[in-house]
Amino acid sequence: MQTYLRGRDFITEQEWTMDELETVLDVAFELKRQRSMGIPHPVLRDKVLAMLFFFTSTRTRVSFEAGMAQLGGHAQFIDSETTQISHGDTAKEIGEIVGRYCDGIAIRQCDWDFGNKYIREVAEASRVPVLNMQCDVYHPFQILADWMTIVEKFGRDLRGKTINVSWAYASSYQKPISVPQSLILLMTRLGMNVRLTHPPEYKLMPDILGQAEENARRSRGSFEILHDFDEGFKGADIVYPKSWGALLTTTDNAESAAIGRKYTDWITDSHRMSLAQEHAVYMHCLPADRNIEVTDEVIEGPQSIVYDEAENRLHMQKAVMALTMN
Ligand code: CP
Repeated sequence: MQTYLRGRDFITEQEWTMDELETVLDVAFELKRQRSMGIPHPVLRDKVLAMLFFFTSTRTRVSFEAGMAQLGGHAQFIDSETTQISHGDTAKEIGEIVGRYCDGIAIRQCDWDFGNKYIREVAEASRVPVLNMQCDVYHPFQILADWMTIVEKFGRDLRGKTINVSWAYASSYQKPISVPQSLILLMTRLGMNVRLTHPPEYKLMPDILGQAEENARRSRGSFEILHDFDEGFKGADIVYPKSWGALLTTTDNAESAAIGRKYTDWITDSHRMSLAQEHAVYMHCLPADRNIEVTDEVIEGPQSIVYDEAENRLHMQKAVMALTMN
């Protein structure tokens, strides 16, 4: 167990050791247990988290804000459009200034080829921890919550379990690639058999794929890439089919949407679920395009664990804040 995490940034889970991540998981389970019994845990009394959003959110915003209140502190919602950020406050200024007012800075900035760089620039200038609430490359808090949920269903030793991280069709908007990228990075460190399934145009960043391969080699798990939707489901213990944009093929939204329309049959339905193990669970970070990306029957069905997954955002985020901002 590594408990000295005070002051640390959390920008990608890949930069934290497994010992450190296991500590976060332990603390999250402890906080979840305490909350279930009504035991107060104000370990961040009088601390303030600045939450800076450049992109919409439901779960992230609500769970961080609730989490800070439950830890005895306060969270400020800051919208880039209604502050001077939209008129030119620089990343350095945000790090320096907000870091002097607050005890942590959480940022969601998903703009392609910009978000992660922006968050790192703020972190460079900040004297307090910077937390990544999702960027163009990573969604680390989502993936911590996914891990906690999988552990609740399958136990802590996940070696040999098969997870299918798959693309699925959606029509609402070109979603970031950060969820599948963070998923393959963490799941390959747990000794799991990780499948990444997508049409050829929906590839992920080569550097991330290389890290996932190396993670799998070190953990004695496996990592493979498939291009057949049904094949990805076969025999899997965990299926995580969600949409993302063809960002490495084109950054033109209209062109990306047109590519997607070739694959409208990549929808998770009861037939696809029947290809997985009988005990398989269905996961999605939400929001999902219902009856386009996944049928109501599956997402509301007995194999779906999406609500537990959303709940665990709260507990994992509280754990990271309690460990880094105290
Ligand atoms: N899963 C997730 O990050 O949800 P929000 O976009 O609603 O925050």
